[in-house]
Amino acid sequence: MMTQDELKRAVAQAAIAYIPVGSMVGVGTGSTANFFIDELAKIKNKIQGAVASSEVSAKRLQEHGIEVMSLNEAGNLPVYVDGADEITRHLHMIKGGGGALTREKIVAAASAKFICLCDASKLVDVLGTFPLPIEVLPMARSYVARQMVALGGQPKLREGFITDNGNIILDVLGLQILNPVELETKLNNIAGVVTNGLFAQRGADVLLLGTKDGVKILTP
Ligand code: A5P
Repeated sequence: MMTQDELKRAVAQAAIAYIPVGSMVGVGTGSTANFFIDELAKIKNKIQGAVASSEVSAKRLQEHGIEVMSLNEAGNLPVYVDGADEITRHLHMIKGGGGALTREKIVAAASAKFICLCDASKLVDVLGTFPLPIEVLPMARSYVARQMVALGGQPKLREGFITDNGNIILDVLGLQILNPVELETKLNNIAGVVTNGLFAQRGADVLLLGTKDGVKILTP
């Protein structure tokens, strides 16, 4: 029986096949992305460098001797590799458990291909068991929380946490996310919301799913 970490390492290894030689690689955040960074280090002479979706990932990349560039310097990227907190068979995701959702959404948006790395426990039929993270400007905290209640959710402030962008996170439980594309748009339109953790309008293009029977490749 493979452990969850072994499944994460297996998908991280499988992701290397998707990295074009000589490219700038978009790199996500979280424990699965960390395994990917460790694999990327092994081919660091075959890539140009990386754009990181968080300060934590930038540090880990640099510690491995991989050059980190800003997205503004790098321009468009061929591929973005990241984990997710939940993912459906349509490759719609909830992300932001690590609080890096805004930079993740930006780097993903600038990338031609999103490769998502998950162990089998992340695959769900309907999104929303995992509380949906929403990055909010601090002054809008209670207004946005009231809007979440009006939508049927139960918002909870992520205590003691400030994002890389200086904002707060509300984790929202109890949203029935049957139409993630629609809800993503709706949440984006609430004043004070910086980013919501639904990645549906721009979902993943490939899911590498770590299962006990090996790495499965899913496309939408
Ligand atoms: C970070 O903000 C998240 O979007 C991560 O991608 C997500 O939390 C996955 O993390 P793990 O790989 O640690 O589960």
